[in-house]
Amino acid sequence: MNKATLVAQFEKVFGRAPEIVTRAPGRIEFIGNHTDYNGGTVLGASIDRGVAVALARRDDGQRHFHSRYSGRTVALPAAGEPAKQSGDASWTNYPLGVLAALPHFGLRAPEGFDYLAESDLPAGAGLSSSAAIELASALAFLGVTGQSPDRETVVKIGKHAENHFVGVPCGILDQGVSGFGKSGRLVFIDCAGPRFDTVPMPAGASFWIFNTHTKHALVDGLYAARHRECMEAAKALGAKLLVEVSTEKLRSAEASVDPVAFKRARHVVEEIARVDACVKALRAGDLATVGALLTTSHRSSQHLFENSTPELDFLVDALVAEPGVFGARLTGGGFGGAVMALAGPGFTAAHAEKVALAYAAKHGERPDVLPMGVGDGAAVL
Ligand code: GLA
Repeated sequence: MNKATLVAQFEKVFGRAPEIVTRAPGRIEFIGNHTDYNGGTVLGASIDRGVAVALARRDDGQRHFHSRYSGRTVALPAAGEPAKQSGDASWTNYPLGVLAALPHFGLRAPEGFDYLAESDLPAGAGLSSSAAIELASALAFLGVTGQSPDRETVVKIGKHAENHFVGVPCGILDQGVSGFGKSGRLVFIDCAGPRFDTVPMPAGASFWIFNTHTKHALVDGLYAARHRECMEAAKALGAKLLVEVSTEKLRSAEASVDPVAFKRARHVVEEIARVDACVKALRAGDLATVGALLTTSHRSSQHLFENSTPELDFLVDALVAEPGVFGARLTGGGFGGAVMALAGPGFTAAHAEKVALAYAAKHGERPDVLPMGVGDGAAVL
């Protein structure tokens, strides 16, 4: 997906050239599962696939949104507050959410425009196409209006759109990684600040994504339920957020808190410790330890946070049995979606195919196997 392709598509749909073309990547949640909104730490990787947006202003007060997936142009008036869309126009809630967010950051939204979005991210794989479209849209809207806030603000605009317009109480992981990604590096976020940093990815490791195409019908509700359970668990432990709870404090409170709240809290508190251990192991180039932490994270999702599924567990079990795999885990919110494996050069497409066939024999449908590279963060092309 390069600039020339986007320009050509825009010309085909709107009959003129775009003023700006932007692109933002999807992300892999490397480790740090449901730690972000609990004020913890997380590591992610911006991948070499994403969403591109092309835009040109128009002066008739109309906003025209087009994506190849819906195949039709959604025309909305620029005047007034953006209204939430439904049905096959619901994808426009991401750019509309960004437009609605801009004034909250003291920034201006462009009035009328023609807008085209194109993606090479598999949808529903937990690779955060939503953050990618939010960041690509934000850069396009800011670019044509001559505004250039710092990167942290762009990331927060995307999160604001997701929390307040789309309506998902997500943390800052997805937008932070899409915004701060760097080729060959992982993005580290201390979500309490937030503070963003990068950690080099040791040589000799590659990412593989296995997309199961399974998605729990209630996935948004389940995510919100986990969010609520974490906030309640923090309260029961005398904290505002679970990041404030130490492992010792948690252990000593086991008998006095509700068992489900305890399991959710234990997952988050131990996961934050795993992120920190992972940063150290990455800096030391110790991929065996990194891999073990990834797989332990998955087991914690499976048994404590209960956001895994039999399909994801099957893939993790099959992958960690392969000699070339350092570790594997679900990536993203959970309840379906994709598994990520971190593997060495000994793990090849033939090994991946073996795992995919074993999965298909057990669960019917073949998962998509996607070897992933780590690419750069959101940018104007
Ligand atoms: C989704 C959310 C993120 C994060 C992960 C779980 O991807 O969008 O903010 O909470 O789930 O770690």
